[in-house]
Amino acid sequence: DSPLRDHAAQQGFEIGAALASDHLQNDSQYADLAGSEFNAATPENSMKWESTEPSRGQFDFGNADTFMDFAQQNDQKVRGHTLVWHSQLPSWVENGNFSQSELRSVMENHIDEVAGRYAGDIAYWDVANEIFMGDGSWRNSVFYDTLGPDFVADALRMTAEADPNAELWLNDYSIDGINAKSDAYYNLIQDLQSQGVPIDGIGLQAHLINGQVPGDLQQNIQRFADLGIEVAITELDVRIDMPADQSDLEQQAQDYRTVMDACGAVDGCVAVTVWGVSDQYSWVPDTFDGQGAPLLFDDNYQRKPAYDAVHEAL
Ligand code: XIL
Repeated sequence: DSPLRDHAAQQGFEIGAALASDHLQNDSQYADLAGSEFNAATPENSMKWESTEPSRGQFDFGNADTFMDFAQQNDQKVRGHTLVWHSQLPSWVENGNFSQSELRSVMENHIDEVAGRYAGDIAYWDVANEIFMGDGSWRNSVFYDTLGPDFVADALRMTAEADPNAELWLNDYSIDGINAKSDAYYNLIQDLQSQGVPIDGIGLQAHLINGQVPGDLQQNIQRFADLGIEVAITELDVRIDMPADQSDLEQQAQDYRTVMDACGAVDGCVAVTVWGVSDQYSWVPDTFDGQGAPLLFDDNYQRKPAYDAVHEAL
């Protein structure tokens, strides 16, 4: 049985993983699987603002370059992640007390430098990440609070300028089903389109809880595709209340299958990316108390039922 990426490629589909530069460098089993199984990749942390511009005007592309070199050597399509986000944002930006025009130029410079550096090599940029709250209202952030909602259109235009070849995307969690938050994106994207702002896609992160794939996932993907943009599952993981037993792992496999099939059923759903390679390094246990084992490979790089489910779906 051949790797996931071969089956995906045959269908013009992308199966991706979030990759961490330190593991790529220090763990050869991790790097081998990352390269052999996936034909797309997202930098888990290395292109975030705190990594690329930790202090004003001082750019550090060490880890981002490590990631890019790996992706290029392995012929992987890259999703840049992420240019404008309230989180993993250095304090010099968040607490800089910038005026509107200053913050706008701080944002523009950041986008120019980061998107400009990799221009031509990035298929998709997550230009703005997590801009709405669960009730569909705007999330307060230094960007929203200082610049108002136009920061999104500005960031999209600035990225288009810095890298005319990249597709420009928005990305968020808990917008997998139809709800107030995904409605907010639906409305914003229509607004952007009517203003002629470049917008190419919406990423559904899909950080899911075992047994809780939204029943209207496919319908939600379809409504965004019907706007004429692309859709992807960008950060898929399915977290289990630990310890995980066999029936949990089988439920998880079913959930992965459901997500794969929902994306596969909609023209315009172009990729599914899992948020990590093995359970061992997943962000889930650090973030969600008592939960874990959310990925396709276990702590020892053995395939889980979820791997087989994804394989069968492709
Ligand atoms: C997470 C990473 O996986 C962690 O290593 C890091 O400590 C925090 O961020 N939504 C996103 C991702 O868009 O960037 C986040 O990644 C997970 C939630």
